[in-house]
Amino acid sequence: MDLKSDIANKLKTKWIGKQIYYYEETLSTNLDCKTLAQNDALEGTVVIADYQTKGRGRRGRDWESPKGTSISFSILLRPRLNPDKASMLTLLQAMAVVKAIKEVCNLDAKIKWPNDVVVNDKKVCGILTEMHMETDSVFCVIVGTGINVNQECISEELKQKATSLRIERGNEISRADILERVLYWFEYYYDSFLKIGDLSTLQTTYNDMLVSMNREVKVLDPMGSFQGIAKGINEKGELIVQLKNGSLQYVYAGEVSVRGLYGYV
Ligand code: BTN
Repeated sequence: MDLKSDIANKLKTKWIGKQIYYYEETLSTNLDCKTLAQNDALEGTVVIADYQTKGRGRRGRDWESPKGTSISFSILLRPRLNPDKASMLTLLQAMAVVKAIKEVCNLDAKIKWPNDVVVNDKKVCGILTEMHMETDSVFCVIVGTGINVNQECISEELKQKATSLRIERGNEISRADILERVLYWFEYYYDSFLKIGDLSTLQTTYNDMLVSMNREVKVLDPMGSFQGIAKGINEKGELIVQLKNGSLQYVYAGEVSVRGLYGYV
């Protein structure tokens, strides 16, 4: 069975993925999703690709998605939110991916704030959330996700910091099962987030999934880097970092990058 029919048969969501577009090859599912949004596609539309020729990562980087082994997909959302809240959707998706990996693979996945999911301290998933505006309100938000599922090996230059679920688990994993669980949990977290408009009810669950919780981190901010202990996120999704003098810094996801002191997480 192809991935599209497999996922459509398995889907247990109420509204996400009622409309699915599947491409063997495309430039980027985030770009496809944007075009669909401009053509009145339904909220919750999901675009899935087996292979992207111009997959995009954060900060203008490329994202590689090998044929047949990875999952690349984007979810179209039309939230009535303040634009400054859109970055919280990345955190919700990271939670959904962690849950999916635990349920399908029984692996202890963790979140590297704000947009990566790691297994055994190596990246298995990246999330790129893009917001599009119309005059002064949000037109749509696209949550794009790439997951390394069945790659049997990772390129030499990425191998120190990236892995796949198959490598960590030791057996082939169903991409449709992972995708079904991610969409299920994303809908669940998104619906509960919208009820309040912030992360206060999800904060504890999120912090339990945070790989750097109570660990020393370095915040690479274009305005100046600093070190401290990660204390979890607040209800706005900012990372709370405690400095040596005890004061707290609240880090907004924007252009900042957070590293462990001794490597990637
Ligand atoms: C990152 O870690 O830098 C984010 C990577 C996001 C990759 C996904 S794959 C599906 C969607 N389409 C894209 O072009 N990018 C995102």
